Amino acid sequence: MSEVEVVVPDLGVEGAVEVIEICVSEGDQVSPDDALVVLESDKATMEVPLESGGTITKLMVKEGDKVEQGDCLALLSATGAPKKPESQSVEQPVSESSDKAAEKAATTTDSAADEVASGGVMDVSIPDLGGAESVEVIELLMSVGDVIESDQTILVLESDKATMEIPSPAPGSIAEVSVSVGDLVSEGDLVARLTLSEDSEGAAESTQQNPSDNVAQTTKQSKMTEPEIEDLKKKKAAVRDENEQSTSTASAHAGPAVRKLARELGVDLSLVTGKGRSGRVVKDDVKAFVKGQLSQTAISAPGGNAYGLPAAPALPDFSEFGSVEPAAMDKMQILTARNMQRSWLQVPHVTQFDEADITELELFRKSKKAKAESLGVKLTPLPFILKACAHALASLPQFNVSIDMENQLIIQKHYIHIGMAVDTPAGLVVPVIRDVDQKSIWDLATECAELALKARERKLRPAEMQGGCFTISSLGSLGGTAFTPIVNTPEVAILGVSKSFYKPVFIDGEFQPRLMLPLSLSYDHRAVNGVDGARFSSHVASILQDLRELAM
Ligand code: COA
Repeated sequence: MSEVEVVVPDLGVEGAVEVIEICVSEGDQVSPDDALVVLESDKATMEVPLESGGTITKLMVKEGDKVEQGDCLALLSATGAPKKPESQSVEQPVSESSDKAAEKAATTTDSAADEVASGGVMDVSIPDLGGAESVEVIELLMSVGDVIESDQTILVLESDKATMEIPSPAPGSIAEVSVSVGDLVSEGDLVARLTLSEDSEGAAESTQQNPSDNVAQTTKQSKMTEPEIEDLKKKKAAVRDENEQSTSTASAHAGPAVRKLARELGVDLSLVTGKGRSGRVVKDDVKAFVKGQLSQTAISAPGGNAYGLPAAPALPDFSEFGSVEPAAMDKMQILTARNMQRSWLQVPHVTQFDEADITELELFRKSKKAKAESLGVKLTPLPFILKACAHALASLPQFNVSIDMENQLIIQKHYIHIGMAVDTPAGLVVPVIRDVDQKSIWDLATECAELALKARERKLRPAEMQGGCFTISSLGSLGGTAFTPIVNTPEVAILGVSKSFYKPVFIDGEFQPRLMLPLSLSYDHRAVNGVDGARFSSHVASILQDLRELAM
């Protein structure tokens, strides 16, 4: 046995690329062609395979390192001759570097735009892939009708060793998609037809530096006729069904080997939580996801779906009853729908209703109006409700847990971060306010306003929507007397707040008008029993009724 250095092969990339995944550990027995690391440049993800089998004695890099050709990646105690003894380094991932191919893809398809004028239809074809042929389409990031920006990735190809993103050459809307996931494509193959938007002319002018690279073909087309529009709608519906999984998978950050594993196991990567660096999905995450799904399936009844439910009947053709217009759900709508359905099906919900007498609280809040204005803060009931819930979570810690059914664990949290549902034009989002128990009412009022604004402007960072222990969904400004909010799993409870109203309350022998705030507490009955549900809501109500309770 001899110890050899495994080095970075010629990647055809200028400068350093990042190590985004280490596929082996020290001491691992490996075979020729096993992936050693995954490298990523701006345009491509490349696996570096081993030439020889043996034992990994030392890893010389870690995730996040930047490496160049010739850098040592690992020491290998090799058994047998390498697959290609003439080579001193591991073989190059693709015949021409995938990075070069990806760059070419960008410039080549861009340059096609100089051939067109706005209002025309452009045939978008596969650019020069650096010599690679019959490369598999692994993700389709467009559907008929999608409005696409110039340079927006429309499909992802994957060879044995590299993943390549193919960008749109111009802005416009997709008129036709000519490939499907799983197709094998080569240079020149038609992938889509793009109805150019008005901006395309500008795009065409701005990309004239490569006029010779003319891969995409274009034709002029007049306005579409009614039958053509109908045809387009039908195609769009068909393509949408087919693409739903691949579109959502596209957002996942994962290397070729992980994507391949996910495809083999039928896993939608967008549903997998990445535990790798920067949220990257690694193979173990995919396996853990499948394990979790299998344990869910185990409770299903035979003959039904994963939850033992009969399949929903096919939708009727609504156009038989009147005018209709189908519109594709966007990614947020799809994810929200899935999350809601999962929570509704997996969590045994109970909703506890209560009313808090906030007559005094409202007087107090209004007395602070001048101060709020001087501070530039809008003081609504929400910060007080947050504070009351934080106190209740500290007093009844069984609400501040998550359940891990797979490992039969109850995970107690020792921090109090509360999510607040915000209605935005793009859908429901839940930014999380951290350490609510440690913040003043003024701090909370400021933070609520800032996060709600960021949510509506779609500027929330993922970290600002993570880590919640509990959620408040306030419909108080809108109306309603009560509702049954769905628990925002993996949290175990959510408080719904409806609009306050005056009602006569019998106090000291007479009816008095009191301002009542309706509370609807939904909780996961696996974690919380009914008595504690009632305790929690009355605890919140008692604080809102008399803020001095906070000091107790
Ligand atoms: N009863 C009566 N009035 C209420 C109230 C309640 N429970 N809650 C708020 N109000 C009042 C406020 O005081 C304010 O009036 P004012 O300006 O006279 O003081 C007005 O309603 C508007 O309040 P709003 O701007 O909505 O602030 P907020 O702090 O109450 O709520 C958000 C902030 C972000 C939570 C809220 O705007 C929002 O998006 N709610 C929707 C939540 C949602 O979509 N839930 C999903 C259900 S599935």
